[in-house]
Amino acid sequence: MYPIDLSGKTGIIFGVANQRSIAWHIAQALDKAGARLAIVYQNERLGEMVAKLAPLLRDPLLLQCDVTQEEQVEAAFRTVKEKFGKLSVLVHSIAFARREDLGGEFLQTPLEGFRLALEVSAYSLLPLVRHAVPLMEPEGGSIVTMTFQAAERAFPGYNIMGTAKAALGHEVRQLAAELGPKSIRVNAISAGPLDTLAARGIPHFLDMKHAYTERAPLRRNITHEEVAKAALFLCSDLASGVTGAVLPVDAGYGIMGI
Ligand SMILES: NC(=O)c1ccc[n+]([C@@H]2O[C@H](COP(=O)([O-])OP(=O)(O)OC[C@H]3O[C@@H](n4cnc5c(N)ncnc54)[C@H](O)[C@@H]3O)[C@@H](O)[C@H]2O)c1
Repeated sequence: MYPIDLSGKTGIIFGVANQRSIAWHIAQALDKAGARLAIVYQNERLGEMVAKLAPLLRDPLLLQCDVTQEEQVEAAFRTVKEKFGKLSVLVHSIAFARREDLGGEFLQTPLEGFRLALEVSAYSLLPLVRHAVPLMEPEGGSIVTMTFQAAERAFPGYNIMGTAKAALGHEVRQLAAELGPKSIRVNAISAGPLDTLAARGIPHFLDMKHAYTERAPLRRNITHEEVAKAALFLCSDLASGVTGAVLPVDAGYGIMGI
């Protein structure tokens, strides 16, 4: 149990694929803090896995939604409105790039792969926030998305996903500026490398993990739980003055020159 109380709060969490998903760990932390949650998975196949995990939470609402399908996004938020009436938290923990657009020469990224990676990994935040805002008014709320240091630095192999994360980082600042007057905060967590389904597709992922272990000030990699705890903080009143920020949860790796 963490010393943060979210009872009476409601949240929608996008991006649970399995027990390793960062979104799943965030869901567990918010659930333990007392929030009522809607857990969103991409498709039927992942739904089977999520249905097995769901009993570990207190009566979550399970919703299927491919974020590239506007009618599915609309339906998910309609259900949340019906069941919860309001929304305090939105977690966007979603990314996708075709395998052939990761690794190899970034220079050769075709338009189709560029579009798809940017659509799923960056653009998708906008429709989700669009639907969340009316449910967050007038009380305000907290929106959290997930990024990686490749938004600012070149990580060979991360390629188009770095471009997508750079776009996502800008969206966080632009949305924070726009939604601040409604008391809606928008932040990102920049996590160190964690073993997940999405991470499996990243070339040199193991090298990244080793680099963090050797060179991060804490001399270790981070855990899923540490990311979840940071998300819990950002979703809580303890972070009431924090918006438009990218919070690194990376054992300090990002501050190092070599
Ligand atoms: N794992 C890491 O090392 C790491 C580090 C920094 C940031 N991140 C970011 O964390 C977020 C979550 O990734 P993860 O590592 O937990 O992996 P994950 O594979 O568990 O989660 C990615 C999620 O995106 C979902 N998704 C992809 N396309 C979708 C679509 N069209 N509609 C709806 N959902 C879709 C997948 O179903 C999956 O649930 C991503 O934004 C990722 O870039 C991950």
